[in-house]
Amino acid sequence: LIHLLSTEGLPARILRQILDRAAGFVAAGEQGEKKHADLAGKTVFNLFFENSTRTRTTFEIAQKRLSADVHSLNIQASSTAKGETLLDTIHNLEAMGADMFVVRHAESGAPFLIAKHVRPGVAVVNAGDGRHAHPTQALLDMYTIRHFKGDFQNLRVAIVGDILHSRVARSQIHALTTLGCPEVRVIGPKTLLPRDVEQLGVQVFHDLTEGLRDVDVVIALRLQNERMNGALLPSANEFNQFYGLSRERLTLAKPDAIVMHPGPMNRGVEIDSAVADGRQSVILDQVTFGIAVRMAVMSTLSEARA
Ligand code: CP
Repeated sequence: LIHLLSTEGLPARILRQILDRAAGFVAAGEQGEKKHADLAGKTVFNLFFENSTRTRTTFEIAQKRLSADVHSLNIQASSTAKGETLLDTIHNLEAMGADMFVVRHAESGAPFLIAKHVRPGVAVVNAGDGRHAHPTQALLDMYTIRHFKGDFQNLRVAIVGDILHSRVARSQIHALTTLGCPEVRVIGPKTLLPRDVEQLGVQVFHDLTEGLRDVDVVIALRLQNERMNGALLPSANEFNQFYGLSRERLTLAKPDAIVMHPGPMNRGVEIDSAVADGRQSVILDQVTFGIAVRMAVMSTLSEARA
């Protein structure tokens, strides 16, 4: 693995290797303060051109636990605002000794562009690009599913909501199908599903009550208003009426189904508080596992370059 840009095309062997390595970090007490030397002497730049709470912070924690020298650029205060191009910014940071870039960008493909132009030996991690991919989110979601459900071979997973604009859904679908999940369902209105969604190997449901029946895992997604150019279809109220995850609707899933959400949540729109904070919710576990999974990703990339 030279860069981590997408889960699409990643073989099951690599996905499992990252999940196993993350499990090793968890077993070693990584949710605590234990330090590792995997990135000692390495300089990592976090470039978040788009807002983030979970991804940015858990990457920083993971980098520090791996003993990296960590620099998180304040993009709003950087020379990007003076017209410097993305690649000029990258080349200047390489001149400062960068070994790894973690990049989030509103434009789909930006981390791929960077990966094409970095010096040999420099790794790029996609922390979410436009509506395209969010591979570390998908990996931490796979970790969470495996943690609570054992493995993927007998699972029925439902992803509910705005699939069309969701880089998370796309990355989850690729990871789930590669890992052998036999039934991945997407549930949403036609306006929020990609036209070619069936080609991703999923079952499509427009009716939430049908789609939720007997599933083992429910993943709720928010409406990605920032990618809709002002045309929110359906409205938040309509969405909640037909697709909002309520306690009553959740009873259609298996009694031991887990509820996931990548965050940020819009309570009362795609998910009710009674579900988000309920006994089946593993939403905060996802966040915690994100640290070990991101450690595993960066450790794997660094090892490939050693
Ligand atoms: N899930 C996720 O990417 O959250 P943030 O936008 O807060 O990083």
